[in-house]
Amino acid sequence: MTLPLYVQGAWFTGALLFIFGLKGMSSPASARKGIVWAGYGMLIAIAGTFLVPGLKNIALMALALVIGGAAAWISGKRVKMTDMPQMVAIYNGMGGGAAAAIAAIEFAKADTHSAVVTTLAVLGALIGSVSFTGSCVAYAKLQGLLKKTYRLPAQNVVNVLLALTAIGLGGAMIVMAPAQPELILVFFAIALILGLIVTLPIGGADMPVVISLFNAFTGLAVGFEGYVLGNPALIIAGIVVGAAGTLLTQLMAKAMNRPISNILFTPMTGGGGAGEAIEGTMKELSAIDAAAMMRYASKVIIVPGYGMAVAHAQHKVWEMTSILEEAGVEVKFAIHPVAGRMPGHMNVLLAEAGVPYDKIFDLEEINGEFGQADVALIIGANDVVNPSARTDKSSPIYGMPILNADMAQNVIVIKRGKGTGYSGVENALFYTDNCRMLYGDAQPMAGHIIQHLKAMG
Ligand code: TAP
Repeated sequence: MTLPLYVQGAWFTGALLFIFGLKGMSSPASARKGIVWAGYGMLIAIAGTFLVPGLKNIALMALALVIGGAAAWISGKRVKMTDMPQMVAIYNGMGGGAAAAIAAIEFAKADTHSAVVTTLAVLGALIGSVSFTGSCVAYAKLQGLLKKTYRLPAQNVVNVLLALTAIGLGGAMIVMAPAQPELILVFFAIALILGLIVTLPIGGADMPVVISLFNAFTGLAVGFEGYVLGNPALIIAGIVVGAAGTLLTQLMAKAMNRPISNILFTPMTGGGGAGEAIEGTMKELSAIDAAAMMRYASKVIIVPGYGMAVAHAQHKVWEMTSILEEAGVEVKFAIHPVAGRMPGHMNVLLAEAGVPYDKIFDLEEINGEFGQADVALIIGANDVVNPSARTDKSSPIYGMPILNADMAQNVIVIKRGKGTGYSGVENALFYTDNCRMLYGDAQPMAGHIIQHLKAMG
């Protein structure tokens, strides 16, 4: 059926807005605008769908929109920034599940489709189902609902066997189209189990990378189902999400120095690895001494990490920065690509607090400057400044590029106690001669430093 120009126009406009929106999201300065554009794109694409001539089940579609829209609105308003990865996981799972559900409906009318269309429907169903159950497991792990990692004996063999069975059944569905309902059911059951089995052994530390990978999968599944439905907006949105998710997965894996195959097939289950024993002691410092060191410094580089996010300390950190700058100190922020728990985590928080973008620097931009800094102030970061990653081959984070905070004249670390970072590895930096520990929750501690700075005038 050739669709009227206004429907095709609406879908095309929606797709264009998705692309412009994604472009906007590539910089923190335009990210908010990008999200809004993509949102308008979605509205226009949905409106176009309602205008398709002869559309059935309009009331059911409207009801689904109201329920889904309300759930997304409420959860989006309530979610804490630190819970964002699991929110992305569950929404991503919904996308994969929706793509698989579209395929299930289309299999029922497979006799009216060409072999190419049925093949794409099968591929979308397989990838979408894996992404659905895999993302649900990722959500449960990050939300703390599932605390253990489960690993089967010969896990990788089971994974391969399940994948081959699902592909074989999918092939049979293409040849026999329309396939018997029993065959379709077994195919979906195996694809859904595959998503569970692949994800259950993966530990929390690797989960954000896995979520990003499933995001790419969902994009691909949606793109395939867009072809099946003849909907260009879905095809373009799917391709854009698939490509963006793939690039992001590669970027995160590179920043953690973990090949994607290694994350999926030899997972690091979290909770730490061995690493060489570290000599020396951690030396404490008071908030007043920390304030004085920074107040009389020429250059301070701040390294924020996951602890700053948990403590919601970004506003206090920015207030402290402003006071130091007024006193003539040059202050810069150094952001590691995997600082925190999601891509761009620190950039988002600092932007929310009003830190100008020209004070925020990526690892490659700032690493050469630590040598000229009088103070490196580390706030709730750990793994991303662990020098063992450079030297200790037995460390699980060996090879991960790190911020060179240890090269500053003085290092001050704000953290609550002697807890390790996400990888569970001890940090050699905390024991070095030029490093001092300022124990406490990041937010009140930044508040104390501010008080002392104000008193110093
Ligand atoms: P982490 O290595 O996780 O260290 C965070 C530190 O913050 C902990 O040592 C903790 O020590 C401290 N902390 C916790 N709550 C605090 C609070 N309220 N106030 C002050 N300090 C607090 O953080 P990081 O350096 O940002 O590194 C991120 C890690 O996550 C890396 O291992 C990275 O590979 C992993 N990861 C990140 C991503 C993305 S995309 N960002 C994806 C996958 C994995 P105390 O308990 O002693 O306070």
